[in-house]
Amino acid sequence: ANNLTLGIIKPDAVRQGKIGLILQRIIDRGFNIRAMKLIRMTREEAEGFYAVHRERPFFGELTAFMSSGPCVVMVLEKEDAVRAWRDLMGATDPAKAAEGTIRKEFGSSVGENAVHGSDSDENAAIEIAYFFSRLEMV
Ligand code: CMP
Repeated sequence: ANNLTLGIIKPDAVRQGKIGLILQRIIDRGFNIRAMKLIRMTREEAEGFYAVHRERPFFGELTAFMSSGPCVVMVLEKEDAVRAWRDLMGATDPAKAAEGTIRKEFGSSVGENAVHGSDSDENAAIEIAYFFSRLEMV
């Protein structure tokens, strides 16, 4: 489904009290929130979610961080959703992200970069299914 993507408000942004501001950006940009919940991933759940990055040198740091506190996981709907959400997030490294993007405003480092988004339609389907059942989709 090329109109859906998986978004996460990461533990750094939740800790800093930015859930509301980030959700407002998402709504203002015209996304339809189809599902949403606050969760705290175990280390194992974070490792499963980021399994494609298992061989990367930052895998341990990434999964420790993503299981360090609650995050908001959500299914976002919009035409060309994967690209539209990546555009709103900005570059992975907040220092390189464009003005007006969520990572530019709320991110603090390449690891603690406030939000996650699926990188392809194929991964969006996998990532949505990792967190949400059919019954949780509005
Ligand atoms: P995300 O979109 O959640 O998917 C993979 C994540 O790995 C990415 O965002 C970054 O936050 C994280 N990441 C990428 N490079 C590094 C790095 N060098 N150190 C720590 N985390 C990283």
